[in-house]
Amino acid sequence: MIMLRKIGVLTSGGDSPGMNAAIRAVTRTALANGIEVVGIHDGYKGLVEGLYEPFNKHSVSETIARGGTILGSARLPEFKDEEVLMKGVNKLKENNIDAVVVIGGDGTYRGADALTRHGVNCIALPGTIDNDIEGTDYTIGFDTALNTVVECVDKLRDTSNSHHRCSVVEVMGNRCGDLAIYSGISCGAEILITPETGYDEEAVLEKLRYLENQGKNHAIVIVSEKVCDVKSLADKISRVTGFAGRATILGHIQRGGSPSPSDRVLASRMGAKAVELLVAGIGGHCVGIRNNEIVSMPIEECVSMPRSSRKAFYRLFDRLV
Ligand code: F6P
Repeated sequence: MIMLRKIGVLTSGGDSPGMNAAIRAVTRTALANGIEVVGIHDGYKGLVEGLYEPFNKHSVSETIARGGTILGSARLPEFKDEEVLMKGVNKLKENNIDAVVVIGGDGTYRGADALTRHGVNCIALPGTIDNDIEGTDYTIGFDTALNTVVECVDKLRDTSNSHHRCSVVEVMGNRCGDLAIYSGISCGAEILITPETGYDEEAVLEKLRYLENQGKNHAIVIVSEKVCDVKSLADKISRVTGFAGRATILGHIQRGGSPSPSDRVLASRMGAKAVELLVAGIGGHCVGIRNNEIVSMPIEECVSMPRSSRKAFYRLFDRLV
């Protein structure tokens, strides 16, 4: 067991609702264990530049319900370069920071693994709306983003229904179809286009014609970003089917908003676990939730795991249309 005197906490990559709840849990658990806490602003960029703020219990007051991240976030691809990484390691040492909890996506995980290899124990928490991290059933922010998508699509359904339209809705996910499949099931969408389903334009148009013949007067198509151009698809739908196509890109609205209670609890449990691991002298691990148990595993193992299958979700979606 090593003696921990001071730890840092940072958020990196795309922000996600619940990051503040995680920062709060890390801060308060550490302080309760007699460990000093430093908030590191602007992700790895701030770590390298020394944007450090001493935190006390009140630094994280009134933050649990706030979206975004009070620490700010940034992407720093250069952090994988040895020179930049060493600057970061030295900056932490100069400031007597023994360990760091990082909250973010897989790029953030790799940074934490590299720091641990260079002697600074790090624990990574999954903070992203994409739910694209292995080693956990859910990431912090996914539930809130899903609620946002569902609220928007329910509204689109109302107007789509009134106008005999087909709404083509693009959701985020960064090459992971979870936001799309979960919202597709939740909203009773008619068609789903994700990295997992692939994109076959003719098959989509055919399905819409079939639905029309079955008497459907409106339809919702949910599309994961980066799979196809939703505007072109909506135009094509207007030209070659009886539906009027309309495209909606939900965009960054999905990243904002007050975290759901479920994300707040998840983030709080994970933040507390991160500090427990550091206190036990463990570094280079990431925290996850599996069957409602908070677990951890080596980051190296997590980032090389194959993606777990979502086939059952897609089968369910197909059965319910
Ligand atoms: O990883 C989170 C995410 O919101 C992805 O869903 C999306 O592809 C990306 O970040 C957008 O990044 P940016 O905010 O830099 O445009």
